Amino acid sequence: MTRKPGNEMWGGRFAQGPDAIMEAINASIDFDKRLYREDIAGSMAHAAMLAEKGIISAEDASSIRDGLARILDEIESGRFTFSRALEDIHMNVEARLAELIGPAAGRLHTARSRNDQVAVDFRLYVKRALQDLERGLSAFMEALIDRAEEHAATVMPGFTHLQAAQPVTFGHHCLAYVEMAARDRSRVRDALVRMDESPLGAAALAGTGFPIDRHMTAEALGFRGPTRNSLDSVSDRDFAIEFLSVAAIASMHLSRLAEEIVIWSTPQFDFVRLSDAFSTGSSIMPQKKNPDAAELVRAKTGRINGSLVSLLTIMKGLPLSYSKDMQEDKEQVFDAVDSLSLALSAMTGMVRDLAVNAATMRAAAGAGFSTATDLADFLVREAGLPFREAHHVTGRVVALAESRKVALEDLPLDALREIDPRLDAAVYGVLSVDASVASRTSFGGTAPDNVRQAVRWWRDQLAAGA
Ligand code: ARG
Repeated sequence: MTRKPGNEMWGGRFAQGPDAIMEAINASIDFDKRLYREDIAGSMAHAAMLAEKGIISAEDASSIRDGLARILDEIESGRFTFSRALEDIHMNVEARLAELIGPAAGRLHTARSRNDQVAVDFRLYVKRALQDLERGLSAFMEALIDRAEEHAATVMPGFTHLQAAQPVTFGHHCLAYVEMAARDRSRVRDALVRMDESPLGAAALAGTGFPIDRHMTAEALGFRGPTRNSLDSVSDRDFAIEFLSVAAIASMHLSRLAEEIVIWSTPQFDFVRLSDAFSTGSSIMPQKKNPDAAELVRAKTGRINGSLVSLLTIMKGLPLSYSKDMQEDKEQVFDAVDSLSLALSAMTGMVRDLAVNAATMRAAAGAGFSTATDLADFLVREAGLPFREAHHVTGRVVALAESRKVALEDLPLDALREIDPRLDAAVYGVLSVDASVASRTSFGGTAPDNVRQAVRWWRDQLAAGA
């Protein structure tokens, strides 16, 4: 077995270095190096506060700051060597700082532990990820709103049970997804408010005897203030779980649209065509154009759900306060960040590029006696029938059209009057799909005028940053 010399960070108590397997299970640097910016920002804020409070000298604080700035530059320019023996990003940075500035580096960790350090780094990272997600959702909403405006009056079948139900407009359908994305954005904002507290200064778990100023570091790092309980500060991963649950819900929405695009782009439906930019061919069947991007958006949802369930499960049995189990939080969040940002960009691109086949949509919208409800409503409105009776009369009209294999509007008036003499020629005015959607003017209904109004409302909302 390979044995390494004792760890320089806690070497005092150890006679021997870790087993190679111990190092492999323990090291997180391969993934937590993604926190380098947050780690350096946290250390800079901490060092400045220590100097301000007279806990370290101003000279030490300034060489710590210069050294950290140099490390940031080394990492960003790819000149930094990450070491597994140094376990994680925190110790990699600190060890390099010691190489660069000597013993003063050892003063940085005064009144701090890796437990509050990782908590503050990870919160900063998740905050940034949520801010990016908010921007991505806004861009997705804009793409949908543009298509909704363009297709405010494009008629398509609306479905329940995936059976054609009543005609709707494609614009209205697009705006349904705007509603979902807007709720996702509001969940992002709620989560950001809740996680806006700095755990830095909770130290290992109990706080510290040094006269630190946690309000100062919180402010320097852009938090509303410090967390109130040191035990909770180092043991809380709610912010990561909330990120994953927000991500899982947003991803579920993207997956539903992805599923619709998969269905709509089949030759059997032929409602939309994906652009060449967002589809793939088959290596054996030359005629094929496959919706791979939509399918992968659908599949990424599975990964993100998995990450949420993983972290909930990792946390559920942990006693207070910190346990190393919590190191497993990062890969879940990183994977979800990557999966969701890719899925969101791909979906925004697909929505923008999608070619809408209005003629097939219109033909499908009129099939299956989709305006039967309009006929029943006509009888209620014009002839004063109770809705239940109107429903019954309409059922007989539908049965007749079905037996003659014609559309409702192709039945002659005398055939209609034979079923119910209260039907007159005016009924033909409500049987077309255009008349049907135009009549749906109730608040939130699918009428083209409503869609145009909703588009204007959403544009104002987005412009106002709401
Ligand atoms: N790499 C660790 C993590 O991500 C940092 C905190 C380690 N703390 C400790 N007491 N071993 O959780």
